Amino acid sequence: MHRSPDSSASASRSEVRQPWWRTAVFYQVYVRSFADSDGDGVGDLAGIREKLGYLHLLGVDALWLTPFYPSPMVDHGYDVADPRDVDPLFGNLADFDALVTDAHALDLKVTIDLVPNHTSDRHPDFVAALAAAPGSPERAKYVFRDGRGPDGGEPPNNWHSIFGGPAWTGVPDGQWYLHLFAAEQPDLDWTNPAVPADLETTMRFWLDRGVDGFRIDVAHGMAKAAGLPDMDRPDRKNTVPDPEGGQDPRFDVEEVHGVHRLIRRVLDAYPDRVTVGEIWVHTDDRLARYVRPDELNLAFNFRLLQADWDAEAFRDAIVDSLAAMDSVGAPTTWVLSNHDVVRHTSRYSRGADERTGRRRARAAALVQLALPGVAFVYYGDELALPNVELPDEALQDPVWERSGHQQRGRDGERVPMPWSGEKPPYGFSTAAKTWLPAPDGWADLTVEAQLEDPHSTLSLYRRALELRHDHPGFGGPGLEWFTGPEGCLAFRRPGGLLCALNASTEPVPIPPGKILLASGPLGDDGTLPSDTTVWLI
Ligand code: GLC
Repeated sequence: MHRSPDSSASASRSEVRQPWWRTAVFYQVYVRSFADSDGDGVGDLAGIREKLGYLHLLGVDALWLTPFYPSPMVDHGYDVADPRDVDPLFGNLADFDALVTDAHALDLKVTIDLVPNHTSDRHPDFVAALAAAPGSPERAKYVFRDGRGPDGGEPPNNWHSIFGGPAWTGVPDGQWYLHLFAAEQPDLDWTNPAVPADLETTMRFWLDRGVDGFRIDVAHGMAKAAGLPDMDRPDRKNTVPDPEGGQDPRFDVEEVHGVHRLIRRVLDAYPDRVTVGEIWVHTDDRLARYVRPDELNLAFNFRLLQADWDAEAFRDAIVDSLAAMDSVGAPTTWVLSNHDVVRHTSRYSRGADERTGRRRARAAALVQLALPGVAFVYYGDELALPNVELPDEALQDPVWERSGHQQRGRDGERVPMPWSGEKPPYGFSTAAKTWLPAPDGWADLTVEAQLEDPHSTLSLYRRALELRHDHPGFGGPGLEWFTGPEGCLAFRRPGGLLCALNASTEPVPIPPGKILLASGPLGDDGTLPSDTTVWLI
């Protein structure tokens, strides 16, 4: 059992009586890449169900499943053709129900992706919109406009798609439709009451099936600036914080908060459920506005994910994030990796080697899991998986084509999970060819190879999650900071846990206390080596 039977610890937990999600550890399952039960080279719901025992053993509290809805898979499921069904590639509704039932039996919550900003161009509503005339009610569910220029031959404004190229595509009758992502992902018009009504139907459909909540895709999208004005800087990307700040008419527009209030009203009729928004904004204060008491419960906080390997950058990210979320009474969330960014093992290898990257990844994990609030673990974080440099012909992300082969896209962080064995695809599938190829040389990284090795990253995560769950040292909100040697950080939780990171190049003295866990070997002389975190009590 990974959960300690320590009764004093569980008593102190239950006394707090706060919603489960305020301190939860979520595990992000990129459904295509987790486990393939039917041998077609793509992960599926039954595959996840078979691995629930592993997730329970790991010690996470909740799953977030990326989209598994019927989809042409142009953006691997984020182009949804029917939000209230399962794509046959991933199984069917019965598989989904069985997965939820089994997960709940293991005390694992199940949250799923909602994609309210856009649909697939194969969604029946968009098919109908294309077939209908300009100005028709069918077109009014999406953002159709006449073009500019003498013959309307130019897009209605200068907006760019996040995936590269213009955010508008022309249709044969001369109108254009808006898509902030791929052309196959038309944006919905959230000023049309039919659009929120449909989202409410979708939410109820899944809530009634027992899901514990939703991750909301592009939750800063939906509302566009009135009149769709030109951007001052159309080259701007929403995923990169803009030091100059300023308004982007595509994102973080005031009216989007009305959408979140509506989502919250639906959710509040179902006890104990949660929403977490994917929100890319330029300041912590802008982020906090999404988790005001009548909006989302949680927002992904990407500050740690954006921080370089630098103790001061980590400390600033932590201090600023806690202050911003405290101002609205929401818990802070902590993310190191997800399906849209280079995995942190590889980010921390830049300018160093992969061994160093892995050591830093382990140290970062102990910082992440020591912090108050919510942690998101991306599948494979617990194995210290690196990104994979895939050959051109293997690339699948629409970013590759839409950027004219300038950006390689996000496939490198979406490679199939290595479960066992010596060769690709390492137990992920019985098929030799998987949707993305697994690389050679991962035999030492598999779950099988790491499970019984007490020094493995998997063992580190298991122990860390167990302590975080059961040890009273992790109780209470807020942090006390300590000054330490340059390149280091140290904080104490109210419950007593002390977390110290040495991100400098030299060993430093270990702070006083009893050692609970360390991310790597400690010095015989009582020192904390470079790129190492220690937990003390
Ligand atoms: C979000 C998803 C990303 C997807 C995009 C469009 O950013 O995380 O994977 O491509 O939305 O739906």
